[in-house]
Amino acid sequence: MRILVTSRRKRLYSTRRLVEEGRNLGHEVEVLDPLKCVLQITTGTPKLLYGMREVRDVDVVVPRISTFATAYSIAVIRHLDWLGIPCVNDHGPIARARNKLGCLQLLASRGIRVPDTLISRYPKNIDLLLDRVGGTPAILKLLRGTQGTGVIFAESQASVESVLETIWSLGEDIMVQRFVAESKGRDIRAMVIDGEVRSCMRRIGREGEFRSNIHRGGVGEKLKLPREYARVASRAVEAVGLRLAGVDILESSEGPLVIEVNSSPGFQGLEAATGDNVARMIMEFAAKLGRKARRR
Ligand SMILES: Nc1ncnc2c1ncn2[C@@H]1O[C@H](COP(=O)(O)OP(=O)(O)O)[C@@H](O)[C@H]1O
Ligand SMILES: [Mg+2]
Repeated sequence: MRILVTSRRKRLYSTRRLVEEGRNLGHEVEVLDPLKCVLQITTGTPKLLYGMREVRDVDVVVPRISTFATAYSIAVIRHLDWLGIPCVNDHGPIARARNKLGCLQLLASRGIRVPDTLISRYPKNIDLLLDRVGGTPAILKLLRGTQGTGVIFAESQASVESVLETIWSLGEDIMVQRFVAESKGRDIRAMVIDGEVRSCMRRIGREGEFRSNIHRGGVGEKLKLPREYARVASRAVEAVGLRLAGVDILESSEGPLVIEVNSSPGFQGLEAATGDNVARMIMEFAAKLGRKARRR
């Protein structure tokens, strides 16, 4: 099987591991930097060039889309789809998952519980709006942002107001979300592959930090996921239309609350915390998709 991994950097842990495990499984694996892909758009006969070489004879694509150059990278995935090459995640759902607000709306509309959230552009009655999401402290979240950047802890109404003003003046939008205090700087990261949770950990933020992201110094520990949480994770991924994703879940006093569905989850922390071979699981799934497409 010939597998393409799209990734900005070959040396990143997750990319390296995908290549390694793909080769261990006997596949031919190549990494393409999406920003070095030239997309030729011609009615009927699209072409994708890498350097000046035409990319062809690929069985399946494993996309790793960084937070930079997202739009271009998604265009590359769309082009590969147009070329008839199956992809672990399709471009539509990847784009959908990138939009945190749209994603929350989608999840909530499908009956998946998320923390109470609101978004407004209207600078009046902030106090009344805050009351609707449990008052202060509150969490403010930029619509984009990842690895904990763009997530703000606002202690008081005055700090909420000043952050909103700043963000609005930059022409950006920001969500106001209930601070789930009982999650105590922890959350659950569940890796869903082919519709099921295949690996998961609890992440514990470092002392004094409400964000549990590994990139913010959080540490992961292996966890046996309660069935209710596993079900919520699979449903969330399905709702967004992804086949593979990392789902972030807060443990609230009323049960699981989904905060994020990440379509390109890194898994260095997850492999370290659990000892699971996540890279192998992903490449096995990719190969399964490739085989299915070949039979058609
Ligand atoms: N509503 C909330 N209440 C308490 N903690 C939260 C809340 N939202 C996020 N967090 C913490 O902040 C971290 C980052 O939030 P998340 O929405 O996953 O953004 P990012 O894309 O930056 O990872 C989460 O892993 C969690 O630990
Ligand atoms: Mg997150």
